[in-house]
Amino acid sequence: MNTENFYVTTPIYYVNDKPHIGHAYTTILADVLARYHRSLGEDTFFLTGTDEHGQKVQKAAEKRQMDPKQHCDETVVRFQELWRKLGITNDRFIRTTEEYHKKVVREILQELYDRGEIYKAEYTGWYCVGDERFFTEKDLVDGKCPECGREVSAIKESNYFFRMSKYQDWLIDYIQTHPDFIQPSFRANETLGFLRKKLSDLCISRPKSRLSWGIELPFDPDYVCYVWFDALINYISGVGFHRNQEEFEHWWPASYHLIGKDILTTHSVYWPTMLKAIGLPMPRTIFAHGWWLTGNTKMSKSLGNVVNPMDMVERYGVDAFRYFLLSEMSPGNDANFTEEAFVARYNSDLANDLGNLLSRVLKMTLRSGGVIQPPAELTADEAELNAEVDKAVAAMESCLLAMKFDQGLAAVMNAVRAGNRYMEKTAPWSLAKKGELARLNTVLYTAADALRRVAVLLAPVMPSKMADLGAALGYNRNDFAALKISDLKTKKSDLAGRTVQDCDALFPRIQFEAAKEAEAKPAKQEKAAKAAKPAKAAAPAGVVELIDIADFAKVQLRTAKVIEASRVEGADRLLRLRIESGGEERQIVSGIARWYTPESLAGKSIVIVANLRPAKIRGIESAGMLLAAKEGDTLRLVTTDGEIASGAEVG
Ligand code: MSP
Repeated sequence: MNTENFYVTTPIYYVNDKPHIGHAYTTILADVLARYHRSLGEDTFFLTGTDEHGQKVQKAAEKRQMDPKQHCDETVVRFQELWRKLGITNDRFIRTTEEYHKKVVREILQELYDRGEIYKAEYTGWYCVGDERFFTEKDLVDGKCPECGREVSAIKESNYFFRMSKYQDWLIDYIQTHPDFIQPSFRANETLGFLRKKLSDLCISRPKSRLSWGIELPFDPDYVCYVWFDALINYISGVGFHRNQEEFEHWWPASYHLIGKDILTTHSVYWPTMLKAIGLPMPRTIFAHGWWLTGNTKMSKSLGNVVNPMDMVERYGVDAFRYFLLSEMSPGNDANFTEEAFVARYNSDLANDLGNLLSRVLKMTLRSGGVIQPPAELTADEAELNAEVDKAVAAMESCLLAMKFDQGLAAVMNAVRAGNRYMEKTAPWSLAKKGELARLNTVLYTAADALRRVAVLLAPVMPSKMADLGAALGYNRNDFAALKISDLKTKKSDLAGRTVQDCDALFPRIQFEAAKEAEAKPAKQEKAAKAAKPAKAAAPAGVVELIDIADFAKVQLRTAKVIEASRVEGADRLLRLRIESGGEERQIVSGIARWYTPESLAGKSIVIVANLRPAKIRGIESAGMLLAAKEGDTLRLVTTDGEIASGAEVG
């Protein structure tokens, strides 16, 4: 039995859905987990795949007048392609239409049938097509599906049932005595709550007259297997069950089944009872993460607010996308995805903190001959920075075991900020000027070594960018990528003597007008601002998106006069402007304090977006936006060429 190896799974995705951020998140989470465990030196297996049977797929194929298998073959590529783009390192991609998987499902069905664990009975109940699940009268909420709230249809038919109810007491006891089994613990409580009601047996068949796209029951050719009973078995068929006992025992039981909170019951009730009936040990942890929302609203096709991971990767790069997802969501809770929040986090953590530290170390080392010299005498400043990085190594490891990546990444970013503080305090540029070479070498070595260790810690999340960072410090990309977290604790640094390589900014700053405001905006107020904004985020500057004249006509640009301006307490980037446009006064909050003093603005003729929905920035109402041109570190307000009345249309 597997006690030391690490085996992680994602749900297998319905093949006809277009992959969205929810699918991308679970798969990236599993990938990061797998990479970290490999990095800790553990034997690791990562399984993902697609769920290809059932009514939804049959319907989608019928709509396209296509054979369902051919439909699956065409649509599965979307997932495989996306995983390739996202740098996913799964060891196996399972499809439930594979012959071997189907064989295992049939064998399990036959065995359970032979043992009397599956029986035939007449069934009357309610069926939800969307969820492909049966419910009893008492399960319904206001006569509708208790899971999704959609209409259900009355059904009376003969079917096969798995004796799930007989395992109810065992399951309650198992959950209560294994606190790691369902995580976070409030999800275990949710399952126990569900188990307070008497558990019914599970209907595991569908008559072919109603649904033909599924695995035929080995003991009754008039029926196919219920899609969830088929799908859950992927977790064992994917690692050699009934094919290669040695392989199977190497990996099973799984260390983690990662799932979204909406599929908790199928994983925490159906699956354990199935395993118990088959006679297999339980997975160590079923971990249910929360949902990604947009602007704090549920993502849905009808609202048009579903985030497409492919778009994000194309705009900002795969590593930044992975970093955002992992640092923004505390697994277990819901998180909010907005492009503004994405850009704000990218600019502050990656472009500013990490990017700056690397560029300072590179510049100074290149100026001093390009080779990282061994350190001379160490002072309290070096000890302080080294201790911060040690803390990050320990935090990353414990957060990883507790599935708290957001906190692990925050600890690593603290170490990066400590690196920047160290550079400012030790000021290698003045050491160079003063010719204090021994001290200069020590400082540059210490900062570079902090970067090296930070990069190893971040590599599972940002594998490609961290290999670039390693290359800049003079490593071969592949050698650096092979460095493990376990090496950080056991091996001495091999940095001294390496020749650094100049490189382009690792994370070039993203200029995104809306993001500037989000950056200055604390999370709480962002929520309110988002509610007032259209769901779809604008394309960032730099991405040329052609629009029609009608699109442009939607934006009302007008001249305005600044009456007065003042600073915003506690927000050193912001100014509050009182302006007048066409006889109407309004207030605009803008992130221009770095470039303009309040006094210099009074009386200026500026251009504003007059019909922007008001938003709250730092709790202050901002009605509109002023226009400014920005290049690099320079920002200039857009003004009119000579006198013109305020309120005049610009276009
Ligand atoms: N096929 C089943 C799983 C079978 S596993 C044996 C299935 N597939 S799914 O494609 O509909 O959903 C897969 C996963 O995506 C679920 O874990 C679900 O929670 C997750 N998500 C769907 N929308 C989501 C968000 N908006 N945010 C985060 N995850 C969400 O269910």
